[in-house]
Amino acid sequence: MLPPGSVIGMIGGGQLGRMSAQAAARLGFLVHVFSPEPDGPAAQVAARTIIAAYDDLEALRSFAEAVDVITFEFENLPAASLALLESLKPVRPGAKILAISQDRLLEKQFLNDAGVATAPWAKVESLAELEAAVAELGLPAVLKTTRLGYDGKGQAMLRAPEDLAPAFEKLAPKPLVLEGFVDFAAEISVMVARGVDGTIVCFDAVENRHKHHILDLTIAPAPFGPEILEEAQSIARLIAETLALVGLLGVEMFVTSTGALVVNEIAPRPHNSGHWTMDACPCGQFEMHIRAVAGLPLPPAMRHSDAVMKNLIGPEDMALWPRVLATPGLIPHHYGKTEARPGRKMAHFNRLFPKGALPGEFGIEDALALAEKS
Ligand SMILES: Nc1ncnc2c1ncn2[C@@H]1O[C@H](COP(=O)(O)OP(=O)(O)O)[C@@H](O)[C@H]1O
Ligand SMILES: [Mg+2]
Repeated sequence: MLPPGSVIGMIGGGQLGRMSAQAAARLGFLVHVFSPEPDGPAAQVAARTIIAAYDDLEALRSFAEAVDVITFEFENLPAASLALLESLKPVRPGAKILAISQDRLLEKQFLNDAGVATAPWAKVESLAELEAAVAELGLPAVLKTTRLGYDGKGQAMLRAPEDLAPAFEKLAPKPLVLEGFVDFAAEISVMVARGVDGTIVCFDAVENRHKHHILDLTIAPAPFGPEILEEAQSIARLIAETLALVGLLGVEMFVTSTGALVVNEIAPRPHNSGHWTMDACPCGQFEMHIRAVAGLPLPPAMRHSDAVMKNLIGPEDMALWPRVLATPGLIPHHYGKTEARPGRKMAHFNRLFPKGALPGEFGIEDALALAEKS
């Protein structure tokens, strides 16, 4: 258990690092950020920032020497960089977990080996392999890069035979993975943490709604019966246990039209779909992340309120910021980014409801309605 005053090394300088650093400060820790980008969201609130490329081994070495434990908000670190860090300080979660979550093929193989259902999938290295995979999995299907995809980037929907060749050409690097299309009723996710002592805690499953492939709303808890919600949590626990995770992990799942659960992807770090926990739980995802990494005890992932989280993305949403601030009941979280480029996550807000009083489908929009322009 790290004492107050210890230093947590954070790889990555975005909003997930910022909110982790804010939680770390509340626990008495200092955060050193390692990021290629100066003045990012995390650097603004960190004790110290090292600005260098993720493959700058000299800079990584001096970063590691100055910290007590290393964690991530960005998981696509080169393997050689990870190996160097692991040789110097505890890295939580460890390199094996990062390798699995960086690569959709390893990820799907790992999940299936653990007995967790995914969409049917096939590795694709050539157009001939893509044609064979489509013959087997059918259309529609989703073709994805195995690495570095996010917010729907690095993937293409295949609806008709003529979509195959252009999608195969466009997506890089190879290999790719073809996934059968899951006709889902909803997308849900679960945040799970596992401590150094093996304690596992699991936040409630939530529903996620996307706009233009970017998360727009999270609804907590997800509006499904207890069987589905409990099954989602037990899948997340099984994944955390099987990986021997130390840290926090998000599990994205589809609820199919028949109520079955299919895991889409995992992310071994705080997750946008866990932002609701900042205000609806005594110990939110960022504090849980820091506690797990620092070897502190993990409290139950208790939820005292229902919540809706709304992302604020790009210049249009940020034009609403003054009204967000003027609307009673909205809890704002700004990421400190100066430029609101289209599609860029700039801020979010949470709105809480008494437990059990989450508004139904038609109440959600009302609940998020902003104050009239003054
Ligand atoms: N096999 C699939 N079937 C149906 N929808 C999918 C499938 N894979 C992805 N999607 C849709 O695309 C979104 C983004 O895909 P995902 O694999 O989560 O990539 P990322 O979040 O890294 O961009 C998902 O949230 C879902 O809405
Ligand atoms: Mg995703």
